[in-house]
Amino acid sequence: MGFSSEHRTCYCGEVRASHTGQEIVLKGWVHRRRDHGGVIFVDLRDLTGLCQVVFNPDNLSAADFETAGRLKDEFVLAIRGTVRPRPEGTVNPNLGTGEIEVMVSQFEILNSCKVLPFKLDEYTNLNEDIRLKYRFLDLRRPEMQRNFLMRHKFYQVVRNYLSDSGYLEFTTPILTKSTPEGARDFLVPSRVNAGSFYALPQSPQLFKQLLMVSGYDKYFQIATCFRDEDLRANRQPEFTQIDIEASFVEPNDIYAMVEGLMARIWKECKGMEIPTPFPRLPYREAMLKYGSDKPDLRFDLPITELSDFFAGTTIKVFAGALASRGRIRALRVPGGAEFSRKQLDDYTAFAGIYGAKGLAWFKVLETELQSPLAKFLTPEQTEGLKAATAAQVGDIIFIVADREKVVCDALGQLRIKVAGDQGLIDKEKYSFCWVTDFPLFEYSEREKIFTPSHHPFTMPAAEDLPHLEQYAADRDKWNAGHPDDNPASKVRALAYDLAINGEEAGGGSIRIHGSDIQNTVFKSIGIGPEEAEAKFGFLLNALSFGAPPHGGIAFGVDRLLMLLLGEESIREVIAFPKTQSGSDLMCDAPSPVGDEQLKELHVRVVEPPAPVK
Ligand code: AMO
Ligand code: AMP
Repeated sequence: MGFSSEHRTCYCGEVRASHTGQEIVLKGWVHRRRDHGGVIFVDLRDLTGLCQVVFNPDNLSAADFETAGRLKDEFVLAIRGTVRPRPEGTVNPNLGTGEIEVMVSQFEILNSCKVLPFKLDEYTNLNEDIRLKYRFLDLRRPEMQRNFLMRHKFYQVVRNYLSDSGYLEFTTPILTKSTPEGARDFLVPSRVNAGSFYALPQSPQLFKQLLMVSGYDKYFQIATCFRDEDLRANRQPEFTQIDIEASFVEPNDIYAMVEGLMARIWKECKGMEIPTPFPRLPYREAMLKYGSDKPDLRFDLPITELSDFFAGTTIKVFAGALASRGRIRALRVPGGAEFSRKQLDDYTAFAGIYGAKGLAWFKVLETELQSPLAKFLTPEQTEGLKAATAAQVGDIIFIVADREKVVCDALGQLRIKVAGDQGLIDKEKYSFCWVTDFPLFEYSEREKIFTPSHHPFTMPAAEDLPHLEQYAADRDKWNAGHPDDNPASKVRALAYDLAINGEEAGGGSIRIHGSDIQNTVFKSIGIGPEEAEAKFGFLLNALSFGAPPHGGIAFGVDRLLMLLLGEESIREVIAFPKTQSGSDLMCDAPSPVGDEQLKELHVRVVEPPAPVK
């Protein structure tokens, strides 16, 4: 029996000075190889780290030493050798194994490796497509291994916390029916039911509600969700949620449970104590003060409402915005009086991305406000503007006048951009914040109607039910008027999000548990009784069989890990992610399928398929 069938005595990263004199067996990859004066040094790597192993002709036969000379990057080795202290001056204090080395007495090449498409320790400037095509190599890099060890730990912490808190882990179907979470569905044709399709779940929303109806009280699942939507750095077509639901709860119960979960995750995964409870901001206030429903509170920079202040102004763009029921709001930036013409032009262009037709600015100098618009302000208005924004000498006041959505988006994004540029964001810090009282509906500029902000199973606030009924009773009439006058705009939901560092980490709500309100909501979003029956009949039916009050939340696992690990993209924490265009470059999916398979599935491709790359 060859020596390579022997088990490892320890892992590469675990060898210490206390092993000195012992004979050990290691297995791993050639991470680096250096030849020094007839001696070959190899950093042998496994999941736990690196260990320096030494091939010295004094300890090996001539044939073996010659074989050692042929070792290349990423060859797989088994070695047996004796641990000894590194000679003086060669100790590496940055490495756990930096005090020792292993003098090889026997080794076996378990596998060779072709020339690498990229060096594993020089990846930083690599095109991501190459990394994704050779993901199995990319995942060997210690940085990636750190991420996936953390992902494992994260799962264990979540499971333990939820299980200890009485939550039961379930698995719900992947081949199912459409769940409306606001994205397009991925469909799967059924072979046995010609012309019918399954939808992959956008979330387990309906199933977790049904489990509450079945009396399981507390549910959780680490669930894969599928959404066909436009991809960004923090979005993937398939991603993972921690999905949670509980019976007989109100929002405060969910907040407390989640705060405990987050505190446990940050403690065990990062060794950090995070203060709880988290601050809570009603949606309206978040939009007003931070221009965002997921405010980054690592820095302050609040936005100031100035619409009333500017009533009767002679500044044309401001008066115009007020006349068309828009808003005027300001962002004061400390130290901004230093901004150059070019910086101001760049910030104006930046605000333009979010629809702002201009960006007014006022530099606060000792004796005056400096601005192309300064001449339109009376001395009282000048003083009033400084007071309203709490501006100090040396600051700049940016103002956007436009539709409310544009004002929020432009100033909210500018707030983040300027904070980054001015070095106001502490990258080591985490800011957690609940955004509560979301509106039940949001206005769709494109369709000119109100559509549900969340899925349509979200409970409206009891005190806003009259607005909901008013809207549902005559949807078309209300939608023909100004959106601000529409009762739909006044209905709040028992819905909440958790924002961390300006990212939406999770969101949930208390659900509708009676079929009456559920039917009113369907009616208010234009889903008639037949359509409701066809799409969600099973849920409506269940709600009429003694459904308990219930609610829950779901977190993006990938986003939480991205935040914990300080990564810029969720692709860094997903083992096999898709590109921006939704393809898997490693296994080349999606890809065309043969006519036979299509025929079996009763599917015909109308457009000719794109040529295979
Ligand atoms: P929601 O749609 O807000 O709620 O999703 C919950 C969380 O999932 C994450 N997330 C994503 N992560 C990566 N890629 C995506 N494409 C993606 N889409 C969403 C976000 C988000 O906060 N069923 C409800 C939850 C509930 O009401 O209980 C739901 O899915 O972090
Ligand atoms: P104008 O009258 O277009 O030359 O603009 C005068 C100043 O007002 C410039 O600094 C513009 O950037 C700014 N401005 C124009 N439109 C808006 C707007 N909607 N909100 C805020 N400032 C604006």
